[in-house]
Amino acid sequence: MVIFGGGGDLTRRLLVPAIYNLVGAGLLDEGFSIIAVDWSDLDDERLREQLTQTMREFVAKRRASAAALNEENWDWLSQRISFLRGAFDDAKTYQTLSSLCGVGNCVFYLAVAARFFAPIVAQLEAAGLTRETESRFRRVVVEKPFGSDLASAKALNAQLLNVLDESQIYRIDHYLGKETVQNILALRFSNGFFEPLWNRQNIDHVQITAAETVGVEKRGRFYETTGALRDMVPNHIMQLLAMVAMEAPISFDADAVRDEKSKVLAAVHELAPGDVVRGQYTEGSIAGRPMPGYRGEPDVSPDSETETFVAMKLTIDNWRWAGVPFYVRTGKRLTTRKTEIAIHFKSAPYALFRDTPVEQLTPNIMVMQIQPSEGVTMQFSAKVPGPTVKLGGVRMKFDYADWFQEGPSTGYETLIYDCLIGDATLFQRADNVEAGWAVVQPALDAWSDGHSTLHPYAAGKAGPDAADALLARDGRHWLRLNG
Ligand code: BG6
Repeated sequence: MVIFGGGGDLTRRLLVPAIYNLVGAGLLDEGFSIIAVDWSDLDDERLREQLTQTMREFVAKRRASAAALNEENWDWLSQRISFLRGAFDDAKTYQTLSSLCGVGNCVFYLAVAARFFAPIVAQLEAAGLTRETESRFRRVVVEKPFGSDLASAKALNAQLLNVLDESQIYRIDHYLGKETVQNILALRFSNGFFEPLWNRQNIDHVQITAAETVGVEKRGRFYETTGALRDMVPNHIMQLLAMVAMEAPISFDADAVRDEKSKVLAAVHELAPGDVVRGQYTEGSIAGRPMPGYRGEPDVSPDSETETFVAMKLTIDNWRWAGVPFYVRTGKRLTTRKTEIAIHFKSAPYALFRDTPVEQLTPNIMVMQIQPSEGVTMQFSAKVPGPTVKLGGVRMKFDYADWFQEGPSTGYETLIYDCLIGDATLFQRADNVEAGWAVVQPALDAWSDGHSTLHPYAAGKAGPDAADALLARDGRHWLRLNG
């Protein structure tokens, strides 16, 4: 595996820990090795020292009970990591790589800023490094952001496809590496009782929430030109929506799954600018700790108009989902960290229990909790024990931690392993990426013409009031963020 940006943050924080976990799971071949390519002032020894340090911190953080690095596994891996100092636009870097890679299988991992994607791939091709033969594969992993609008996503796809075959491109959306996201399909398509209800006859609406308490951290410069919509919606949120709304694939082959995603994403109606709310956090506090406003964050303009929150109503124009709104909200510095998908079922048709009118019955909601707690909760009505018939709301909960003794996972393990074995199911195909952008493009166009209001919300709140109004106009409300 050749990692461009091998001296960087993503490599240290996510890729190497994930690969270390693959070593622990016995999934890597003796012949495996990593070449970290970067222009930073490092060498093999110093890179290994840095990584060892980060790995100790990583293990301590993830495994409270056994806070030690497995030295044998780490030695196995760190001895296989070497550093190649070189610029990404210098043909010499690629000549050296060519002799290092020889005739072996190679995954080129682009853990670099998006502006390097196309130039690196062009250099790889020029050096003959992307050529596959009967006995060797050559794959390229591309990280997000994949374009900044529909036109740039299409242009990037065209540049990649100019030198690579689609089957060689692995576009990462790290949400697809999350167990709970993969479980959406398992839940829907390996059980008999969800799917018959999974349609417009029984579902009133769906809420998708990706709430964060973190702000923009050290990424102010990136975030200023990105904003919450581009950062989260065409990619992560659209993937969640596709998993919830797609038809059953004919198999779990990569293309069978991605064909179904493609169909449902193509059916998502373009986002009407009037159906989206933009917000930006101002000063506030989270868990008693004071927080600065977005405009006070490093590398952020004091009069920034970038949104740190979006809420929207999406609709899907097909037989299964016509008339069922999908409400989405995502933002930074919200009251709590929570990613979940809530399926709101229609209520019972009439009030058999006279003391509790239909509108007061506990709404039937199935919540798929993606993170930080991982599981599924069903909410429904039950009889409160006692001599009279009284109804109360109850919850039935499946919790991952209760059922499975999970190993620590960063979500990248599955993705890296799948790329090594050539399974592209959990990677985005060109048409999936473009379909995600196509949905949000009308809103981006309207905003760039100055047609949008930015609603302030204090850090630590659930978002701006306008987000509540978006649902209230349909007679609905968001699930409580901290409930
Ligand atoms: C990234 C975004 O893609 O996803 C970040 O760029 C965001 O801004 C992150 O914080 C959220 O990922 P997760 O796994 O913490 O939900």
